[in-house]
Amino acid sequence: MRGRTRVSVVGLGYVGLSTAACLAEKFDVTGIDVDERKVEQIGRGVAPFSERSLTPLLKRQVRNGSLKCTTGYEGVGDSEFVFVTVGTPSDSSGRIDLSHVRAAAHSVGDAISGARRRRIDVLLKSTVIPGTARRLVKRVIEERSGRACGEGFGLCSNPEFLREGSAIEDTMRPSRIVIGRFDTSSGRRALSLYKKFYGEGMMPPVVETTPEMAELIKYASNAFLAMKVSFINTVARICEKIPQGHVDSVARGIGLDNRIGTRFMEAGPGFGGSCFPKDIKALIRFAQDIGVDASLLEATLKVNETQPEHILSTADSMLRGLNGRKVAILGLSFKPDTDDVRESRSMMLIEKLIQRGAKVAVYDPVAMERARSEIGSNADFTQNVEECLEDADLAIVMTSWDEFRGIREGDFVNLMKTPRVIDARRIYDPSRFVATDFAAVGVGPRATARTGNSYSISSGGGAINTGDSCEVPMSDGKFPVTSGQRMITGAVVKDDERYVVTDYSLPDGLTLSTTELKPNKATRGHSHPTPEFYIFFDECNLTLGSEARAVKVGDIVHVGPNEFHKVEAAGRPCRFVSLFWGERASVQAIYADHR
Ligand SMILES: NC(=O)c1ccc[n+]([C@@H]2O[C@H](COP(=O)([O-])OP(=O)(O)OC[C@H]3O[C@@H](n4cnc5c(N)ncnc54)[C@H](O)[C@@H]3O)[C@@H](O)[C@H]2O)c1
Repeated sequence: MRGRTRVSVVGLGYVGLSTAACLAEKFDVTGIDVDERKVEQIGRGVAPFSERSLTPLLKRQVRNGSLKCTTGYEGVGDSEFVFVTVGTPSDSSGRIDLSHVRAAAHSVGDAISGARRRRIDVLLKSTVIPGTARRLVKRVIEERSGRACGEGFGLCSNPEFLREGSAIEDTMRPSRIVIGRFDTSSGRRALSLYKKFYGEGMMPPVVETTPEMAELIKYASNAFLAMKVSFINTVARICEKIPQGHVDSVARGIGLDNRIGTRFMEAGPGFGGSCFPKDIKALIRFAQDIGVDASLLEATLKVNETQPEHILSTADSMLRGLNGRKVAILGLSFKPDTDDVRESRSMMLIEKLIQRGAKVAVYDPVAMERARSEIGSNADFTQNVEECLEDADLAIVMTSWDEFRGIREGDFVNLMKTPRVIDARRIYDPSRFVATDFAAVGVGPRATARTGNSYSISSGGGAINTGDSCEVPMSDGKFPVTSGQRMITGAVVKDDERYVVTDYSLPDGLTLSTTELKPNKATRGHSHPTPEFYIFFDECNLTLGSEARAVKVGDIVHVGPNEFHKVEAAGRPCRFVSLFWGERASVQAIYADHR
């Protein structure tokens, strides 16, 4: 393909490979990476990570020869343009680690020194703190190549804004192009390349500025987005304390003010990925180093660091202790449509759960392999959602993969030991979760009935008194259980011929425990010093004192203090919930509200 512009891309990670594959649509591209395995894999047309639309593009470009990959820098000397897209991780202090940028600049400089071309333009896409292109990249290339910037080579800071998961789309249709030019000709040539690629009429908005401002634009952009996430997560925590609170309605309510905007206002487990956390840390350190107060950025980071802890404490209170409990984690990647688990909040939560003695089962549609190399054998890597949920005490949805949106409440109920769900991404409608102990990030407790309301158990029935056993009404209903001034609420619903109690909002001192008996098993026949209520979801046999009887679905049975009892699952599983106070109080009554 003679006459095509020759371009090199140094560093074939998420940014470099996506950029190279897109540029190869119009240009002859040489991809360069120091990782031999990666280069060999890409050379076969196989993407080393999961990115939507990348694989077909890559296969085509490799097959038709417009994208070639190598570990050597020879291609740089023949290129008109060289993109530098190597990684810029954090060092242990949070400062940016520029060793890859330095090494790449070194190699690019060496390649330019021996080049026949009189001019090669370098575009620095890696995210770097202001001053890096000038003090490091320009200096090193000048030293190694023996050429002057603006004459023998051009240099622009040209930050990248693509998002993993939509990297190809973002590269093909970027929101803007930022060019931080060292000299007019470098800026003009960079712009001409982009015009050639996108076409004059299709050019995205362009911001031309100094290299330092271009570098800062990238950090400021990520910091602002991260701040939005931490802001809405703070609002989410407030919503969780307010009955019927829902952060999404607040996000929409404020976002419709176009000074605020509705995008990037999704509360959840916090931001992760390879960019936001490290970029905010680097910007904080940079601000501190030049004597600028970075407290707004520090708060952004602090909210984010504590968000997995917040989910952990919700899990802890739902399970009343994590030790020995099986927790199913659905989603490992930091967001859907990518297998990137770097700084994923899910990984952080898993680590904390394991530290607290929980047994963790994990499942992700694409990120299992990458996660395995980080968590190793500390978690149970399962094949699918069903296996992950099997016998779990709690499920936590950490990534909003479409596959998880399809899980229905019945699946949680049928597969789990006890159906408890934390929806950290609010992919489920809480009102559909009536048979499950359900919590969601940013969602407050359901409305509670007021003490003193009168409730009936059916259209013709009256209140249930202590010790009554009754049939629960057929339709959805709410019931409060009161003890003095204290009250809990719950829903009793008919679900496939089974009545279940949900939406527990238990005051201090009241315990609710769910028992599931396997067929033909029985409780051991123990007794408690305080009265209890049993609410049955399945038919089974009950012995109370010396009296034995069959219990129907929906029966509510009062068990007096120290009253010997035995529940027996006759031929089929039996589940029941028991409610009891500590030693100080006793349950006064259970009412059912027929709606
Ligand atoms: N990942 C994103 O979503 C994203 C978005 C915008 C900007 N960025 C920024 O772009 C840069 C690259 O990010 P990434 O996620 O693609 O990183 P990455 O870690 O996925 O890829 C970096 C690649 O550079 C290679 N490399 C390292 N040193 C090299 C050298 N001397 N010569 C050649 N190759 C070398 C590595 O082997 C690796 O393949 C970072 O500065 C990042 O902050 C990333």
